Amino acid sequence: MAEIPQGGFTAPKGIPEYVGPEFTAVRDTLVREADRAGYAHLELPVFEDTALYARGVGESTDVVSKEMYTFADRGGRTVTLRPEGTAGVVRSVIEHGMDRGTLPVKLRYQGPFFRYERPQAGRYRQLQQVGIEAIGVDDPALDAEVLAVADAGFRALGLTGYRLEITSLGDATTRPAYRAELQRFLEKLDLDEDTRERARINPLRVLDDKRPEVREQLAGAPLMVDHLSDEAAAHHRKVLGYLDDLGVAYTENPWMVRGLDYYTKTTFEFVHPGLGSQSGIGGGGRYDGLMAELGGPALSGVGFGIGVDRTLMACHAEGLEVAPARRVEVFGVPLGEAARDRLVGIVGQLRRGGIRADLAYGGRGLKGAMKAADRSGARYALVLGERDLDGGVVQLKDLSDGSQTEVPLDGAVAAVDRALGS
Ligand code: HAM
Repeated sequence: MAEIPQGGFTAPKGIPEYVGPEFTAVRDTLVREADRAGYAHLELPVFEDTALYARGVGESTDVVSKEMYTFADRGGRTVTLRPEGTAGVVRSVIEHGMDRGTLPVKLRYQGPFFRYERPQAGRYRQLQQVGIEAIGVDDPALDAEVLAVADAGFRALGLTGYRLEITSLGDATTRPAYRAELQRFLEKLDLDEDTRERARINPLRVLDDKRPEVREQLAGAPLMVDHLSDEAAAHHRKVLGYLDDLGVAYTENPWMVRGLDYYTKTTFEFVHPGLGSQSGIGGGGRYDGLMAELGGPALSGVGFGIGVDRTLMACHAEGLEVAPARRVEVFGVPLGEAARDRLVGIVGQLRRGGIRADLAYGGRGLKGAMKAADRSGARYALVLGERDLDGGVVQLKDLSDGSQTEVPLDGAVAAVDRALGS
């Protein structure tokens, strides 16, 4: 039999767990903004054929080459825990022919994603995202909508300290020429062998090098935004214009490099400076070649993935209260068994009436039970002693100021209702 490890079982390294209402409050707020813009929920598989991510996300990316949780299932198929959502959404759209209906296909998803990264604050091996994808229409207004939905989600949470960085990665007409020019530039620099290799495979990624000695040399590097096709440049200008119209603030960052290979034209990141080195709270962009790359029709797409873990951290960094600390509104405090028996029914009635209620279980004394009531965040306690029970009454105690009112046991639910409503 498998043994209990020394020190007991622990969750696998790099996996945060959330207790209480905050995590779901953040996630649901982000989802609500996507709903408001007409994105339909898609429940994606948690694992897919490994080749989907290798083709979709790109073999040379860190995500595919170093971070995938890949394993053979019992049938010998190679599968991978989803490292991101876009490839799966596009696969699903192709597989089910959703693109044969009205375009764009607008879908949203939420849940855990898996990347074997080095864990640190804000960087996890199981990370949580809310994402949206709009597939099948190459319209700059749609890029702006995607950005506005993310922005509205952050704002609905009360966040103010983030910024949106945006650029254009151009399209297939000018990207190869730009890439070659960047490669020629990089070849002349004094770089170590690993970086030279990266420059050969994916030169754009070298632009993201954080080392000061490399940064210094990159100062005059050619940038994609200066090499856009007329069409991509016009698209970019239109997107920025719509963002102005929608009141979404942005900063242009022509140095932006994303960790996934599918981006074309609009590419963006939401950055929160209060989070240290893992400052990206969301990111995304347009991916006009992905659908064809995955064997579907040559349709465009645009979307985002927002990191729920990091968005919650950003809320904490800004001192926001994202969910009420109140676990329940009313807490039953029975003194003795007969009182407990009676309060079980009353708590049930309160819950049926839509009032969040809990009870001190386990025959605790008055002191212990009142402590539990305080910790629950309840506004009121229903304290029921033996003498109350005999008299057919219960004490309704306001936990904010300690004041107490005697109410009839039969009318306890109505009394709580009235008290909460006032
Ligand atoms: P991504 O930038 O790789 O994009 O991830 C999106 C967000 O997920 C990041 O901005 C970050 O907040 C969060 N995130 C990523 N990795 C981690 C991690 N290890 N720990 C905690 N949070 C993390 C995508 O995944 C694309 N699929 C987004 C997209 C949708 N592009 C187009 N459509």
